[in-house]
Amino acid sequence: MRVTVIGSGYVGLVTGACLSDLGFKVACLDKDEEKIRALQEGEVPIYEPGLKELLSRNRADGRIRFTNDACEAVEHGDILFIAVGTPPAEDGSADLGHVLSVAATIGRHLKGFKLVVNKSTVPVGTADKVRAAMSHELAQRGMSPDLFDVVSNPEFLKEGAAIDDFMRPDRIVVGVDEGLHHARSQRMMGDLYASFNRHHARTVWMDVRSAELTKYAANAMLAARISFMNEMANLADVLGADVDHIRRGIGADSRIGHSFLYAGCGYGGSCFPKDTQALVNTAKAHGHSMDLVSATEVVNERQKTVLVDRLTQRMGNDLSGRKIAIWGLAFKPNTDDMREAPSRVVIRQLLLRGAQVSAFDPVAGLQALQALRLDLVNEPQLMDRFELADTDMQALEGADALMVLTEWKNFHNPDFVTMKALMRKPFILDGRNLYNPEALSELGMAYQGVGRRNDLAQLMDFDRVADAQGAEESV
Ligand SMILES: NC(=O)c1ccc[n+]([C@@H]2O[C@H](COP(=O)([O-])OP(=O)(O)OC[C@H]3O[C@@H](n4cnc5c(N)ncnc54)[C@H](O)[C@@H]3O)[C@@H](O)[C@H]2O)c1
Repeated sequence: MRVTVIGSGYVGLVTGACLSDLGFKVACLDKDEEKIRALQEGEVPIYEPGLKELLSRNRADGRIRFTNDACEAVEHGDILFIAVGTPPAEDGSADLGHVLSVAATIGRHLKGFKLVVNKSTVPVGTADKVRAAMSHELAQRGMSPDLFDVVSNPEFLKEGAAIDDFMRPDRIVVGVDEGLHHARSQRMMGDLYASFNRHHARTVWMDVRSAELTKYAANAMLAARISFMNEMANLADVLGADVDHIRRGIGADSRIGHSFLYAGCGYGGSCFPKDTQALVNTAKAHGHSMDLVSATEVVNERQKTVLVDRLTQRMGNDLSGRKIAIWGLAFKPNTDDMREAPSRVVIRQLLLRGAQVSAFDPVAGLQALQALRLDLVNEPQLMDRFELADTDMQALEGADALMVLTEWKNFHNPDFVTMKALMRKPFILDGRNLYNPEALSELGMAYQGVGRRNDLAQLMDFDRVADAQGAEESV
C-alpha cells in the first residue's frame, strides 16, 4: 500500500515521516513551492525533535519524497491523507477552504479507487462536504462517484513530542461509515496501522461523525483542565494557598490524574484556541451552547495578561524606561510554533505601555519576529523597542523584571546568582511556575508565580533588596 499526504506542515510531515519509517512508500504534497524545494534539499521547515533525522533516513532509503505536482501525488497513493490547516474564520468557525480545495483537487485527478483519510481537525459533517466536492469533480469528467471513500482519522499528536506520539499512540481513532466501501476502507485502515495494534488493539473504530467530534471533545477537555487550574491558581493567590500543592493533591486521585493540571499564563498553539472556538461555533450553528467550553476560552484570554497585570500593579501602567526580559516565545517548549502563543499578547501589552522588551527563545526567535510584525502591523513603531537576545543571559542585562513564558528545559535550573547580577531589579514573574519561591527568596530575588502564595511576602522581600542595593526606585 502506498500513501500520499497532502499538506506538509506539522501533522503532514510527521505522518509522512512516521509512515515511511514503517515501510510505506510515501509522497508528501504541498502547495507551498518553497517548502517543497526545501524538503527536497533535505531541509526541514519546522522544528520538531527527531523529525529531521527521520526524514533524511527515509529520504535516503527512497521511501519518502516531496512534490508540488497534485496529479502525480494523487496517482501515487492508495491512501490519500488530507492534513492541511483548518484555521479559524472571522466568526470562529473552522475555515474549510483548504480541505475542500484539496478534495476538489483529488476529484480532478482521480482515475481509480482511492481511500481519502481526513486527518485535519474538522467540524462534524466535513466528510460529507469532502465527498460532495469530490463527486462534483468526478461528475464534471463523467466519472462514477463510487471511485472513493472518505474516512476520518483525527490526529492527537503533541508538537514537541510528535514523533513519539505518532509512533506510540494511546489510541488511533478511525471513523468509517456504512456503505459500498465499508469493508474495504476498514481493511485498508487496519493494514495501515497494523504495527500499532500488534501488542494490543489501539484502534478505536467508530462512525465518521463521532470520529470528527472526538477530536474536538479531547481538545476541549484538555483546554478546560488548564483553564480550571488557572482559575484555581488565581483564587489560591487571593486566599494565600499554593496551586502547586493543590495540583499534586488532586492529581494523585486516579480519577483525575496528573496531566494538564499546570497553572500558568494561558495556553496557545494551533489547536486548543481554534478548536474550542470551532466547537462553540458548531454548537451555535445547531442552536446549542457550549457554556463550559466558552468559559474555558474566556478564562484563557484573561490568563494571558495575568503577568502583565502583576507587573503593572508594582510598576504602574506606564512602563516607559523599563526593560522587561522575556524567556520563551514559542507557545510551548520543543517547538517553534508561534500560533496563538501567549508571548504575543504579553509582548504587545508591554510595548503598548512603553517598555523596552528583550526576548530570548532557544528556537522560535525568527518565527516570533514574523508573528509580532503581523500583530503590530498597525503599530509598527512599537517594534523599535523590541529586541531578540542571542542568549538567555543577554536578555537579562539591565532588566527591571524577567517574565518566563515557555518552560523550555534550559530555563529550569538557571544560574540565579548571575541573573541577579545582570538584572537591574531581581524580579522574576514566572508564567510557568518553574521556580521555588523559597529558594529565590533566600537569594534575595523577588518572585511572582501563578497561584504560588508568594505575592506579598516576596514583594516585601524584594523592596528590602532594592533598598539594600540603593536602587533609586522600588517596584
Ligand atoms: N499542529 C498540531 O499540533 C496538530 C495536532 C493535531 C491536529 N492538527 C490539525 O491538523 C491540521 C494541520 O495542522 P498543521 O499544524 O499541520 O498545519 P500547518 O499549517 O503546519 O500545515 C498545513 C500545510 O498544508 C499546506 N496546504 C494548504 N492548502 C493546501 C493545498 N490545497 N494543497 C496542498 N497543501 C496545502 C500548507 O501549505 C501547509 O504547509 C489542522 O486541521 C490542525 O488542526 C494539528
